[in-house]
Amino acid sequence: MQFSVKTSAPEKAKTDCAIVPVSGAKELTAGGRAIDAALDGALARGLKSGDLAKKAGSTLMLPGGVGIRRVLLVSLGQDAEATEKAFSDATRAALRALGTTASREALSLLTEAPVAARGTPWKVRVQVSVARDLAYRFDRLKSKPETDVKPLERLDIVADKREAAAAQTEADRSAAVADGVDLARDLGNLPGNVCTPSYLAQQARNMGRRHKLKVQVLERPQMEALKMGALLSVARGSEEPPKLIVIEYRGGPARQAPVVLVGKGITFDTGGISIKPAADMDEMKFDMAGAASVFGTLRAVVGMKLPINVVGLVPASENMPSGRATKPGDIVTSMSGQTVEILNTDAEGRLILCDSLTYAARFKPSTVIDIATLTGACVIALGHHNSGLFTKADALAAELVSAGREAGDTCWHMPLDDEYQEQLKSPFADMANVGGRAAGAVTAACFLARFAKGYDWAHLDIAGTAWKSGQNKGATGRPVPMLTRFLIARAEGR
Ligand code: BES
Ligand code: MN
Ligand code: ZN
Repeated sequence: MQFSVKTSAPEKAKTDCAIVPVSGAKELTAGGRAIDAALDGALARGLKSGDLAKKAGSTLMLPGGVGIRRVLLVSLGQDAEATEKAFSDATRAALRALGTTASREALSLLTEAPVAARGTPWKVRVQVSVARDLAYRFDRLKSKPETDVKPLERLDIVADKREAAAAQTEADRSAAVADGVDLARDLGNLPGNVCTPSYLAQQARNMGRRHKLKVQVLERPQMEALKMGALLSVARGSEEPPKLIVIEYRGGPARQAPVVLVGKGITFDTGGISIKPAADMDEMKFDMAGAASVFGTLRAVVGMKLPINVVGLVPASENMPSGRATKPGDIVTSMSGQTVEILNTDAEGRLILCDSLTYAARFKPSTVIDIATLTGACVIALGHHNSGLFTKADALAAELVSAGREAGDTCWHMPLDDEYQEQLKSPFADMANVGGRAAGAVTAACFLARFAKGYDWAHLDIAGTAWKSGQNKGATGRPVPMLTRFLIARAEGR
């Protein structure tokens, strides 16, 4: 899908459909009024008919004329300035309504609509990401495609001349982010019998070849040599060999310390010997969504050629029960030398991440962020809107919270006080791998904190945000937009 910013008079455009916002007391924008005049008042008559409800996201399709084949009026609500949600809802409704017509291209005037505290770049970002979200399909495992609805080929976005360059930059960046989101969704949606640790490693190698990235895959013998006893303990029950995938993007100055992104890559989580109940266990194919977000973010960064150094680190494994699997009560020694009593083999994410966090130190990073579908407790705490953010580095927290807001991919700063550490006490080892039911997302983060030493660190628990359940279940691609926004800000020295 192509996105191009247009500054010429919209009433003179040739297009399958013009998308015209209506806000406040049925008011048209300047471009809307110009199209109305060119069509002899057709838009005003449509508004007068009462067929367009005031609720944000209501739409009314009208026949066009001259070069404009159709006009789609879309409500942004009754306020003079729309809210962010009203603008996003209206954009989604408009593009969805277009999808049921034969329109292959459209001209959007949505950027002209006033939105409280948001300017053109934000509005462009929303339009591109919504358009790409609606165009996303995952049908490669169906024997034939299910729908005849074809996505738009082109979306032209009207912007003011003075803002055109910034708007086009934003459109291009947003398209690169969408490429990353699509990759993360594809990897997440693939079933566990296809997307194994070896498959992820191969995807990394392919990505490395295509985009000139340095890719290295550590195999079991190397993990043994590095004494990654925690990571290896998770892989023990599986026939699939574990992989530790390293992807290096060097877009910044050679001596600039990199940002390391560590993604949990459990390609299927049965729980191991502490096996999960059968209901909805299929969703544990999404337990590599953190890994997928690392791949997706790197794809976006490559697409934007960001001047920054980023290292992706993905520990990949299955978590399976078997005669060789780790048992509750087993004690393992992590790469850091700290010992862990594994009381619950279903708390496996922290075990593969802890050795990865120790390994991350060798890149001498400025910042390490791990991304993981780590706890069901985080879903109970925050639901499906915010990812859980855990860090003691308040400046880093502010950067991530702000990046999330900008990207519409938000996180919420959660506690990480030392008091919670006591829940991880073990009579036999340095720590247990679980801390009881209370504050389960916090104690999981506390466990990781014991290994994240020597650099600024944040942990994102994406258990509630990485996929949607129910009839239309599927990976969301989050938090690729937040992470990319964070890296853009870092690259621009903000
Ligand atoms: N992958 C799960 C977390 C999860 C559960 C994500 C449900 C999304 C939905 C993780 O490996 C896990 O099983 N965590 C346990 C931890 C517990 C044993 C301390 C959990 O949340 O139940
Ligand atoms: Mn688990
Ligand atoms: Zn898991």
